[in-house]
Amino acid sequence: MVNTLNLYGLSEEFGNEDTPIPLFKAWLAEAKITEINNPTAFALATVDVTGQPSVRMLLLKGMKENGFVFYTNMNSRKADDLQANQRASICFHWKSLQRQIRISGSVSQIAEKEADAYFETRDYDSQIGAWASLQSSTMEQRSEFDERLSNFRTKYPEGSTVPRPPHWSGWVLIPNEVEFWLNAPARLHERLVYKAQADGTWGQSLLYP
Ligand SMILES: Cc1cc2nc3c(=O)[nH]c(=O)nc-3n(C[C@H](O)[C@H](O)[C@H](O)COP(=O)(O)O)c2cc1C
Repeated sequence: MVNTLNLYGLSEEFGNEDTPIPLFKAWLAEAKITEINNPTAFALATVDVTGQPSVRMLLLKGMKENGFVFYTNMNSRKADDLQANQRASICFHWKSLQRQIRISGSVSQIAEKEADAYFETRDYDSQIGAWASLQSSTMEQRSEFDERLSNFRTKYPEGSTVPRPPHWSGWVLIPNEVEFWLNAPARLHERLVYKAQADGTWGQSLLYP
């Protein structure tokens, strides 16, 4: 079988886009069909004030003006890191497709109204969890958390409107670099990187595997 190649001689999976977001969306759409769960999961790397990196998994909850939106507790370790240093990097890996997308850029907090709108769509237990969890703080006993959950269930009974906790909101990462990686036999992988240019366009380069 003859493979169709893109303009750079890469496999057809890379398409021929001038900008990275359409290709990101195309790969994510495929992952939603092929992954056994959580196709929107990605690793977020942050760096704290001492320069110590830290990484954890999150879920992508949407795209906003070509940025990547995620939600979390604003008192968590990652939020502390992002408040001190807005530069961050995220990485999607889809085993079923043998593909990776690595993205770097800067984050900012999303508007309160947008966070409210998303919080409203969460199921009741997740809403209560957002109130009860002091994410990334230590606790003495698991029962401490159970008690907090129970207290918030009493305060906001099921069926009532649960307001968004002030400590829970979203971030948007605006990319300045997006790298697409496709597995190939014998580790001769294919890599295409888009870099934002000063004039607002995107440049493209191939990388050795
Ligand atoms: C697949 C997966 C998805 C996750 N999604 C989120 C998420 O969207 N938001 C979040 O705050 N934590 C999420 N977590 C938990 C984080 O990985 C992490 O434990 C938590 O946010 C605390 O991180 P921090 O101490 O670095 O702030 C997820 C974990 C996994 C494994």
